[in-house]
Order: sequence, then structure tokens, then C-alpha cells
Amino acid sequence: MIKEIEKHLTDLEKIKLKNLDDVESFRIKYISKKGIVPYMFSQLRDVPNKDKREVGLQINSVKQKVNEIISLHKEKFTSKKSNSSFEDLTKPAEFLKLGSRHPISIVKNKIIDIFLKIGFDISEGPEIEDDWHNFTALNLPEHHPARDMQDTFYLNKNPDWLLRTHTSSVQIRHMENNEPPIRTISPGRVYRNEDISARSHCFFHQVEGLYIDEGVSFVDLKQTLLHFTKELFGKSKIRLRPSYFPFTEPSAELDIYWGLESEADYRITKGTGWLEILGCGMVDPNVLKNCKIDSEKFSGFAFGLGIERIAMLLYQIEDIRTLYENDLRFLNQFNNSI
Ligand code: DAH
Repeated sequence: MIKEIEKHLTDLEKIKLKNLDDVESFRIKYISKKGIVPYMFSQLRDVPNKDKREVGLQINSVKQKVNEIISLHKEKFTSKKSNSSFEDLTKPAEFLKLGSRHPISIVKNKIIDIFLKIGFDISEGPEIEDDWHNFTALNLPEHHPARDMQDTFYLNKNPDWLLRTHTSSVQIRHMENNEPPIRTISPGRVYRNEDISARSHCFFHQVEGLYIDEGVSFVDLKQTLLHFTKELFGKSKIRLRPSYFPFTEPSAELDIYWGLESEADYRITKGTGWLEILGCGMVDPNVLKNCKIDSEKFSGFAFGLGIERIAMLLYQIEDIRTLYENDLRFLNQFNNSI
């Protein structure tokens, strides 16, 4: 029996298979139910007990060899087969399905484009901030009640570190490192410890704007924002409502006239036709001083807006959470808007 097995092993070394049909006949010959290998196993019961183990191992090595030959040749012939489909170079290329940009990115890019065209540059800062850049330098000293306007996530390791609550922190970093004239916008992610609801989320995205130069006035602020709303929404009626932010004086909120043409317009504007879009104001001289900018010589304006809110308005998205669920049926709707 051992001799028989050895013969099979040497035969296997010389085996030549030319195609998948050969592989199949080879498989049937050796390892199908009535093939050589099962037959040899059945013969095992006639082998004397003392040799059983040795012979069993030998038959196993034949089986192993056969399986190796089959998988090797199968791979060889099937990959050849698929290669051959490339030979027809006149075949149209296969359609590659592209992903779509996220609505947050689309709106962010639109906003960036508008400001780049009027001479602003882009600046960024860290999402993990220190107290100075997020609060103190922005005229929000410790225990200032306005700190409660934004519920903050603090980092346990170091109580001076926090997740920035707004992109206004980048204003400070930019003024610390650059001399006026400064024209910059800072897009980025911000964090607030809020209850999750249809209207809020623990993180969202803002764009901050800052313009510092000699003789910058409220008129410049108003004209810049008017240009912005015309470009982004195609709306040219705006109003600036007095408001309060610690880092600007005076402060205002920008409303745009959205109109009252549809039932949805009534709903989103609460029947007024007006929509609040962003916060803004003239940079408080204290903030300039904190950044070592001469507040006698220079003045400027700043504004901050939430990208989610704008995206929801532009695309009539009702629930902010749909922006974060990554449902492809939702995301694919933005396929063509870049
Ligand atoms: N940082 C404010 C917020 O997150 C938004 C803001 C308001 C930014 C007025 C400004 C500004 O630069 O002038 O709610």
C-alpha cells in the first residue's frame, strides 16, 4: 500500500492541467466520493494496526497535495479568464459611482467662496482650546455671567482646557499672530453641552468672520453682510437688530427678509417673514487690547454664523439630526450641488 501511495505522490508531481475542465476531471479522479483518495482510506481497515497510523498520514499527504493542485490551478485559470475581459479595449468603461459632498461641506464651501472673492483669507484654530482664547480674551472673564450663554465641555485632565464653544477663539489666535489689516474667516467645528433635540446637537459648525483695519465702521459691516446674503440666499433685504455679545460693542443680530410666499415660509419665520441668520458687531476695544492691537488706531467688525442653520434653510431640512445620521438616501440628494 505504501508503494501505491508513493507512486501517486510522484504522479502528482508531474501532473499537467490545461484548463478548468482538466481541473474538474482531476478533482473527480482523486477526491470525489469514488475517487482514489476515499478508496485508499477505505483500504485502511485492512492495514495491520501497527502500520495504520503511518499509512493514514501518507494518504492524508496525497489528499493535501491534490487539494493544493486544485486550488492553485483554479486560481490560475479563473484569473486568466477575468483578465481576458480586459482585452476588448473598445468596451465602454464601467460606471464608477461617486460619493456626494455632505451638505455641511457644500454650504461651508459656498460661504468660503463668497468671502475669498472679497479679499478674506481662511484661518483655523484648535478644537481643544484654553480658557484664554475661548473666553477671557473675548472679554468674558472668569465668573462673567455671559459664560453661561454657552454650556461648555471641560477636559478632565486639565481644567484650563475645553472644547471650544465657538469659532470666535480663532479671532484671538489670528490677531495674536497677525498685524492689521486683517480680513479672515474661520470655519470649524464647535461643541456645546446641550440636550439633544430636533434643534440642537452637542457639536455643530460655525464660520467666524473678522475684519480689522484703520477706519472700519458699522457701515462696512452692514455692506459686507448685505453682499453675503445676496450671494448666498439671493435675498437683498436685511436688518440689523441690536443685541449683546461680550466681544462686540455695539452688537447686532442680522435678519434677512425671507418672504411669506408659502406655508413653509410662515412656519420657519413664525409668520414674520424675517429670519435670524447670524450675530455680529464692532470688535470691542478690550478684545483688541487683549491681542496687543492698538485700539486707538484700529477698529473692526466680527460676525459668527452656524453652518447647520444655513444648510437647513437652504435645503429645507427640518431636523438637524438628519445631518449626522449618514443615511445615504439623504446624502445622495446632494450629488449635484458642489
Ligand atoms: N460667538 C457667537 C456664538 O457662538 C457668535 C458671534 C456673535 C460671533 C457675534 C461674533 C460676533 O464674532 O461678533 O454664538
